[in-house]
Amino acid sequence: MGAVKIKEGLYWVGAVDWNVRNFHGYTTHRGTTYNAYLLVDEKVVLFDTVKLHFFDQFMEHIREVLGDPRKIDYLVINHIEPDHGGAIARTVEAIQPEKIFCTRNGRLGMIGYFHREDWPFVEVKTGDSLKVGRRTIQFVETPMVHWPDSMVSYIPEEKVLISQDAFGEHYATSTRFDDDVDFCELFQEVAKYYANIVLPFSPQVQKVLQTVKDLKLEIEMICPDHGVIWRRHVKEILEAYDRWSRYEAEPRVLVIYDTMWHSTEKMAWALYEGAVSEGVEAEFFRLSVTDTTELMTEVMRAKGLAFGSSTLNNGLLPTVAGFTTYMKGLRPRNKLGLAFGSYGWSGEAVKHLNKVFEETKTEIVHEGFRVKYAPTEEDLARCRELGRLLAQKVKEACGV
Ligand SMILES: Cc1cc2nc3c(=O)[nH]c(=O)nc-3n(C[C@H](O)[C@H](O)[C@H](O)COP(=O)(O)O)c2cc1C
Ligand SMILES: [Fe+2]
Ligand SMILES: [Fe+2]
Repeated sequence: MGAVKIKEGLYWVGAVDWNVRNFHGYTTHRGTTYNAYLLVDEKVVLFDTVKLHFFDQFMEHIREVLGDPRKIDYLVINHIEPDHGGAIARTVEAIQPEKIFCTRNGRLGMIGYFHREDWPFVEVKTGDSLKVGRRTIQFVETPMVHWPDSMVSYIPEEKVLISQDAFGEHYATSTRFDDDVDFCELFQEVAKYYANIVLPFSPQVQKVLQTVKDLKLEIEMICPDHGVIWRRHVKEILEAYDRWSRYEAEPRVLVIYDTMWHSTEKMAWALYEGAVSEGVEAEFFRLSVTDTTELMTEVMRAKGLAFGSSTLNNGLLPTVAGFTTYMKGLRPRNKLGLAFGSYGWSGEAVKHLNKVFEETKTEIVHEGFRVKYAPTEEDLARCRELGRLLAQKVKEACGV
């Protein structure tokens, strides 16, 4: 595929990576794209670059629009991470930009990655703008959404927001716009991206959304660094970011567990049945067969979490410890939690899981339930009761 005209004078010149399946541990079943944008005005401006591996394709797209890539005057780097910053050094060499616009942390980061203090950096801050002819570029810093250097660029004359990783998703497609693709698929991918990348920075996302309101930015189109360009569903994606960054959750219970000899699994199933019997949606996940990236998306959306593990060497099963460590790093908030598990002699797993709840500020609805060796019928009845209790608390908290 070639360069794609997005608006008069604005082009997509990125690359589509159909075959990537693992992105620093994030499973990308649908591949991804590295988006870069070219604005052709009196000055020619390139926004971001691509993963180094795709440099030739990227240059080819720029050549299609401009003929000579050296016609580019300015390079704007909204985010330095190597998935779109990896090609910066080769790009600078190829286009010889007059200026490179970035935040202060962007400059320091580029020096950190490329060790080139001599590049023509121009540091920008929120409120700074740049006239490039008929159009203007306004910069808004978005620190820690999701790196210290991050910022977005807004073109008021076009009502276009070039948003780096924010509002993006890992989704390879042959067409470039949100209305070209299945909405459900797209929303699943964008929720997954939020849950696995953006979630820890939700308070900063709230600040950015407030800045967008304060600056009265009218947004007709959002051009992120990954996935499709938003033009039909701009309102929906802005609303979804607002909901997710306020930790709004759906009335659903997740039973997440692992097991060695199936005792914890029997408890998990009884909990699940109990939750379902309350008329609440519930989902059941054994960690050793579940994709972590997908599961994190469900965790972000659900209000109630029941975590189960048998005790192994005084601790959690490694799959449970691994997932809870990953989850803690993503800092979900505003959940209700319940721990359970089977043990043989010392039985510390429930205690460790309650600690995870405390660390994620999850409200513990019950001290937890542990069973020695295999659960009896009474134990399973107790688990069903606890499943019902969690579901009731979820319904109360969500007002259903
Ligand atoms: C999703 C994500 C989260 C990150 N979180 C942190 C962090 O919390 N603190 C930090 O110092 N660096 C963080 N980093 C930055 C990486 O540590 C940095 O890119 C480093 O250079 C990667 O080293 P490597 O190339 O050996 O993997 C994060 C990177 C990614 C992609
Ligand atoms: Fe990034
Ligand atoms: Fe990225």
